[in-house]
Amino acid sequence: MNKNFYITTPIYYPSGKPHMGHAYSSIIADIFARFKRIEGYNVLFLTGTDEHGQKIQKEAEKNNKDPKIFCDELSDKFRSLTKILNLTNDDFIRTSEKRHSKSVNELWKKLVKSGDIYLDKYSGWYSVSDEAFYDEDEIEVKEGKKISKSSGSLVEWVEEESYFFKLSSWTKKLLEHYKNNKEFILPVSRKNEVINFVEKGLKDLSISRTSFSWGISVPNNKKHIIYVWLDALTNYISALNFPDTNDKKYKMFWPADVHIIGKDILRFHAIYWPAFLLAANLPLPKRVFGHGWILSDQKKMSKSLGNILDPIEIINKYGIDQLRYYLVKEVSLGNDGSISMENLKNCINNDLANNFGNLCQRVFTFVKKNCDNKIPKANKLDAKDEKLLNNLKENVKNLIAAMDKQNLNEYIKTVVGYSFDANKYFNDSEPWSIKKKDPERMKSILFTILEQIKNLSILLNPIIPIATGKVLTSMNLSIDDISIKSIINKNVLNHDKELKNLEILFKKIENDN
Ligand code: ME8
Ligand code: MG
Repeated sequence: MNKNFYITTPIYYPSGKPHMGHAYSSIIADIFARFKRIEGYNVLFLTGTDEHGQKIQKEAEKNNKDPKIFCDELSDKFRSLTKILNLTNDDFIRTSEKRHSKSVNELWKKLVKSGDIYLDKYSGWYSVSDEAFYDEDEIEVKEGKKISKSSGSLVEWVEEESYFFKLSSWTKKLLEHYKNNKEFILPVSRKNEVINFVEKGLKDLSISRTSFSWGISVPNNKKHIIYVWLDALTNYISALNFPDTNDKKYKMFWPADVHIIGKDILRFHAIYWPAFLLAANLPLPKRVFGHGWILSDQKKMSKSLGNILDPIEIINKYGIDQLRYYLVKEVSLGNDGSISMENLKNCINNDLANNFGNLCQRVFTFVKKNCDNKIPKANKLDAKDEKLLNNLKENVKNLIAAMDKQNLNEYIKTVVGYSFDANKYFNDSEPWSIKKKDPERMKSILFTILEQIKNLSILLNPIIPIATGKVLTSMNLSIDDISIKSIINKNVLNHDKELKNLEILFKKIENDN
């Protein structure tokens, strides 16, 4: 069985500082990366910055900066965000790096060799903000301005000599690929959108520009800069040391298991990228998952509305585990989801502080008082105890399957359900009322609930790694030792060592906060 897993985020434009949308994609990808690691996979998790093209050059000019220096500064902000978000990315790629331009050059040469590139003239609409070409029927006039219907960004008329990629000739092959690989594009609604678009027939794609200089030049024709999307998409294989296809990393990790992206860049990932790879005779990624928009109080975040959510501000105020949990619990991955500080507070209080956090605290305190602070062994489990544990254990397979389809909402809903059940079990079992009468029964209850706290900590670990790490450490379990298998394995708990002090996991947020 192939035990390698490669997951990527989009590489972000360092044209401004990162916002909540960027944080969202990265957190989601990190959760899957962490999950696959505790499932026993060798994981490669990649993120980075997309630094070339007209959009970045213009932004640098506006700021009176050399584009490379401008990118250095902003790329650093994205890099430091990976630490603030507690991401476990194994690499951070910048398209201004040598390893990347080498890879792009080689891919270009392959496309020339296969006969998929020709020189002509482009005339049509272009949006610098999206770095995208649009057809006449994809634009509209609003308040006297020509904009893209899908993104709302300004378009301008472009006429210049350009190299073209024979995208049209790959239409049939792409449709076949979508048909034969039903889960190549997820969620399904996004797949249908792509198929409808491709079925209308694809036009050849302009893949070079001559009107600016910030980018990778076309091999043997320095007048042309390679289209920033052909440049950017290649990052996914540059990081694996392409063009060296005998390289260990490339062999282990290509094709990627999943590219996590936002729905705005679906066309580039689900049409252009596989077409380039088909033409270069390279394997296609296994999946492209396009998630929805994070809306700020029901509206799309934008500078003019002044509703851009700064992840760093929110994390400083509420904590990173709290934000991670909230984003997966309250936003349905794949759909648009509105977030608000009011909901965030409620979610922290109800799910994290009152439920999982409180359960751990109460149980640990009780064990400290009544069992010399050690996890008791149980001689016999009741049907009630078995039921609590087995419900979860028997469902582990389904949880893994849900994660393999990026069905994060089903996963978290199920796990949180178990956490509520565990709380109810502890309340209903009332170990405090029988500790004198029936100490053996008390031990069984405590063993059961601690076993379940361990299981919940493992399942919640990819989402709230800091808090669950504290719980596991308190139980004398090393985070590096835990795995999904330790849920099934009965003998993971340590009964000899004393529990370590467990600090409050989630402080309740007061309303005036
Ligand atoms: O498109 N809600 O970079 P970008 C959810 N460089 N996700 C959001 C979001 C929102 N409101 N806003 C942004 C680019 N995102 C290219 C990518 S990849 C080879 C090149 C996330 O800085 C989402 O993942 O505009 C979206 O696809 C991405 O940021 C766009 O980031
Ligand atoms: Mg964008």
